[in-house]
Amino acid sequence: MTSQERKRFRVRVVMATVATVVVVGGGASMLAHCARNPRVDDASDAELAQGQQLYRTYCGLCHGDEGEGYAADDANALANQDFLVSVSDEFLTQAIAEGHPGTAMAAYHEDRGGPLDDGEIGAIVALIRSWQEEDMAAMPDPGAGDAQRGAQVFAQECASCHGARGQGDTAISLNHPVFLASASDAQIRYAIAKGRGGTPMPAFEGELAEQTIDDLVALIRSWEPSEAPRPTTGGPSAAAVDGPVIINPDGEAPDFPELREGRYVPSEAVADALHQGRRMIILDARTASDYAHFHLPGSIPSPYYEVESIMERLPRDGTWIIAYCACPHAASGRVMDFLREHDFPNTAVLDEGVLHWRDEGFPVVVGDAPGTLEDAE
Ligand code: HEC
Ligand code: HEC
Repeated sequence: MTSQERKRFRVRVVMATVATVVVVGGGASMLAHCARNPRVDDASDAELAQGQQLYRTYCGLCHGDEGEGYAADDANALANQDFLVSVSDEFLTQAIAEGHPGTAMAAYHEDRGGPLDDGEIGAIVALIRSWQEEDMAAMPDPGAGDAQRGAQVFAQECASCHGARGQGDTAISLNHPVFLASASDAQIRYAIAKGRGGTPMPAFEGELAEQTIDDLVALIRSWEPSEAPRPTTGGPSAAAVDGPVIINPDGEAPDFPELREGRYVPSEAVADALHQGRRMIILDARTASDYAHFHLPGSIPSPYYEVESIMERLPRDGTWIIAYCACPHAASGRVMDFLREHDFPNTAVLDEGVLHWRDEGFPVVVGDAPGTLEDAE
């Protein structure tokens, strides 16, 4: 880490600490006049302070510390007013608890292998709700729509940001089973008509005919699977949490190319090192629930919010340590910065992230144990 990067890292830590103190100390008056929603009237200052602290630990790195969005990749703006006036607490709770598996959005509920219980998720929802400045929107139900007609419009007007099948691209996915199970048709219609002010999502009201918007809602709804989404269960196994950390302990060190920006190692170089039986450590910096979904062979769970306890298990003998996440640099970058701050010499971040790694056909292990190359798909 350069001295400048180190300074920035410290500044971030200090800022987070100050902000937490401000909320605990002087939050009451600041939060009181935002209380337009019944949910917030119910929320105590203590709950909001708890929500603030949890949010900064678990969510800010992608969604921004103030919910402004886009701190990492396509994590949407949770403080966006057009968003807040159109989503229920239940919708927020589901998204946080179940996540959007397969994207950078992990499942945070402890039943899914995440770090949070019901009360903690409730506190985060109360905090997000406290950012809302206006009353909930009146949202009319859409009229009947034609998914086929919708598909033509989608290809022209929407696919460039949301992906050809609504799988997400620069913008959030629209075909995720968890989203479709908890978003109402009225809410989806509202998003298309009103857009999301201050984000790339345009308002299509007036641009597209009312019927066309209804057709788009019908198309998006048609992506809902007939069966309920299969939730990820549990998290990493004991073998992953307490077992050996070094892959190929008797192997030679990997021959990595010069790191891009002094930080990033390409997927291909890591895949080569695995196939050549090189000695290294691979840390999965995502939320633990994502680890069980799939991970790099031999990697160990090292969630970005538990770096300290992982650090105690790592040797200080120069063994290469590679961290990865989905986003593709936010969580892994946080883990690597922490290790560099604590003087681990050979550290790098997997440049393209684990979703790209899998899509390129590099090996992944499914399940809660670290596994080896032989177990990989
Ligand atoms: C590693 C980055 C990352 C972290 C950390 C993260 N999110 Fe997300 N979140 C995302 C991304 C990316 C999406 C969009 C996923 C998609 O395309 O389906 C998302 C989606 C969401 C949604 C659904 C929004 C919608 O309109 O459908 C909510 C709500 C949410 N996140 C809240 C949270 C909360 C609260 C936390 C902390 C407990 C959190 N997220 C942590 C990246 C992240
Ligand atoms: C220029 C890029 C762009 C285009 C074009 C675009 N969107 Fe979006 N859309 C976004 C972004 C970015 C968001 C999330 C904004 C936020 O809340 O942070 C979004 C959000 C949404 C949401 C809300 C999803 C959720 O999880 O809350 C829906 C529904 C949606 N878009 C549908 C559409 C449809 C249908 C079209 C085409 C008619 C379209 N979008 C065109 C960028 C785009």
